[in-house]
Amino acid sequence: MTEETGAQQPDDLVERVVNLCKRRGFIFPSAEIYGGFRSTYDYGPLGALLLRNVKDAWWRAMVQRRDDVVALDAAILSAPKIWEASGHLSNFTDPLVDCRNCHERWRADKIEGQCPNCGSTDLTEARAFNLMFKTFAGPVEEDATVAYLRPETAQGMFVNFVNVLQTTRKKPPFGIAQVGKSFRNEITPQNFVFRTREFEQMEMEYFVRPADAQKWFDYWLDERFRWYLDLGIPPDKLRLRHHEADELSHYSAATADVEFLFPWGWDELEGIANRTDFDLKAHSAASGEKLEYFDQASGERYVPYVIEPAAGATRTMMAFLLAAYDEDEVGGEKRTVLHLDPRLAPYQAAVLPLSKNDALVPLSREVLGQLQPICMCDFDVTQSIGKRYRRQDEVGTPFCVTVDFESLEDGAVTVRERDTTAQVRVPIDTLAAEIGGRLGR
Ligand code: GAP
Repeated sequence: MTEETGAQQPDDLVERVVNLCKRRGFIFPSAEIYGGFRSTYDYGPLGALLLRNVKDAWWRAMVQRRDDVVALDAAILSAPKIWEASGHLSNFTDPLVDCRNCHERWRADKIEGQCPNCGSTDLTEARAFNLMFKTFAGPVEEDATVAYLRPETAQGMFVNFVNVLQTTRKKPPFGIAQVGKSFRNEITPQNFVFRTREFEQMEMEYFVRPADAQKWFDYWLDERFRWYLDLGIPPDKLRLRHHEADELSHYSAATADVEFLFPWGWDELEGIANRTDFDLKAHSAASGEKLEYFDQASGERYVPYVIEPAAGATRTMMAFLLAAYDEDEVGGEKRTVLHLDPRLAPYQAAVLPLSKNDALVPLSREVLGQLQPICMCDFDVTQSIGKRYRRQDEVGTPFCVTVDFESLEDGAVTVRERDTTAQVRVPIDTLAAEIGGRLGR
């Protein structure tokens, strides 16, 4: 519940959001007809749209609106040599303990010496458990055919560094950005889509002169923090946290996390790291290829440092849902509403003929045809208009466009705004421009 209503967040906010996600087709447990499959999820009709909008918002900010960042879409299935060189085969581990009493397995650093299942403190010694998913490329299952599902998208950018340099003629500072699936065999996936074994990342590797690394690290902290605020995360639910030296990943000289205040406490949305020249040097040594930059103007040759903003798309989508969820009253009636930024909402507009009347539906379809080129629209003719407004509020649709009998006379429609429920009459001729303008398009 929002600050505007003065109400507190409900204690069971996660449960309410999970229920909404299931009920309205945002997120379904995967393989549900078979009883589900190990904390994996499928994104339904509305979730697929919301997730796409999160990724598009990231892409616009990180690639489209810049001339110093280029795109990449690298393979998910990848060679063991990449992960050997990157250090993931030896270092990408979590400490695993077994409970000797109930035989559940846990991440040692998350349970403070006590089994969360049965309460026993009789746990085994922690041992390093590698999080990479291993598979075989081709029909023969032997060492020579081992492949890994990537646990981060980042390595695709490092191993293509020279390809990108040669084909784009970019020079530092410049970045390579990628959005895509990553896989980690998490010991304890938890909190809905917060931690899953299959998830989506939005990562950018920004290659800079080593002497400029600190400057760019600070720059990206600032940029990335503002991105969440701009898309509607309330400032009191967002913070930056710098890692202590003993928390740093094996490749990092400095890392700060953008954290969101989840119902269970502050937790990470994104890590911004100074990866130094660790990855380029490691791949250079392992492959024998020179992964460096030669500045023809100055005659300078160096291995760039890398500043990496690495965000989770699926996790961030959950944060946007939690931040947007609200229950308030409209006209004495309770409603659930998602105050999603219009750029993130699954539908930006819903076209609603007041009734199924033969005369209204064709005009409503005309209105729909005018809006579809500029935004994602729903078209709903079922149930009363009040119920349809509630349904659109609940999935975060910022604008409902109602076509009524007067529309046949005056060529205008009613536009209702989700958060205020204010209604204005807009001529159909200028509707697309009006909605487009309100969406900032
Ligand atoms: N390339 C650096 C890297 O992968 P990370 O902090 O391990 O860094 C980046 O991951 C982001 O990916 C995290 O901040 C988080 O948002 C997301 N992420 C990581 N593991 C995840 C998981 N198991 N489920 C969902 N999202 C995850």
